[in-house]
Amino acid sequence: MPDPLYAANLMNDRRINVLADPAAVARAAAELFVQSADEAIARQGRFSVALSGGSTPQALYALLAGEPFINKVDWSKVHFYFADERCVGPADPQSNYGMVREILLNHLPIPSTNVNRMKGEIDPHEAAIEYGQMLKSTFGDGGLDLVLLGMGEDGHTASLFPHTAALAEARHRCVANFVEKLNAWRLTLSAPFINRAGAVALLVCGQSKAPAIQRVLEESPDPQQYPVLLIHPASGNLLWLLDAAAAGMDPEHAT
Ligand code: 6PG
Repeated sequence: MPDPLYAANLMNDRRINVLADPAAVARAAAELFVQSADEAIARQGRFSVALSGGSTPQALYALLAGEPFINKVDWSKVHFYFADERCVGPADPQSNYGMVREILLNHLPIPSTNVNRMKGEIDPHEAAIEYGQMLKSTFGDGGLDLVLLGMGEDGHTASLFPHTAALAEARHRCVANFVEKLNAWRLTLSAPFINRAGAVALLVCGQSKAPAIQRVLEESPDPQQYPVLLIHPASGNLLWLLDAAAAGMDPEHAT
């Protein structure tokens, strides 16, 4: 009898890589980033990628900012976007952009015009409209090459939180979303826009995520309750990068 996680993987044609620990997840994500950038730049002369906040991807960003990865990418052709943002200014400790600038962007030979942050410091609705219009003029009916996402213990991803209005967004590329449990506004890419990406990678680490991972990958519950289930790129390229703890597996059995 195959491992249930593996069976779920086959059933839904998802790729699920379980790695020993968070450092291995970061390394795998860095390799994916470099490969995706190489392919996109060779194909179209630019690579567009949306980054997430939170703690999990910080190890990835630190890897990309240093040897050997920093020398593996033509950063002048990389264009950064954000999957979501807190409604705070860029200098606020809560800012996803501020975190990415500190850990990654400040270390890269990249023109500032290649970085497209969401303006958390202005009215959320205005910021969402402005960001969505920029995405429309940049991508038209297309999407990003790669979206890097995390997942919360409640199954949220980006700022698509359970039972919030943004889950129903079918038209706009970026929306303002009030999250009652945080008593805060967030800016987030909508699921339909994320799903236009060439590829989506979900980086999930830690034992605290194991219950949600099991529900999401083995039982496929209601996406209203587990919004990460709204993420299924039309390209079919959905990659889960889990550490053994999040997968509820023994590290020895991880790849
Ligand atoms: C954010 C993120 C959010 C994050 C999850 C997981 O703005 O916080 O975009 O969606 O990916 O909350 O966060 P951790 O990686 O810290 O567990």
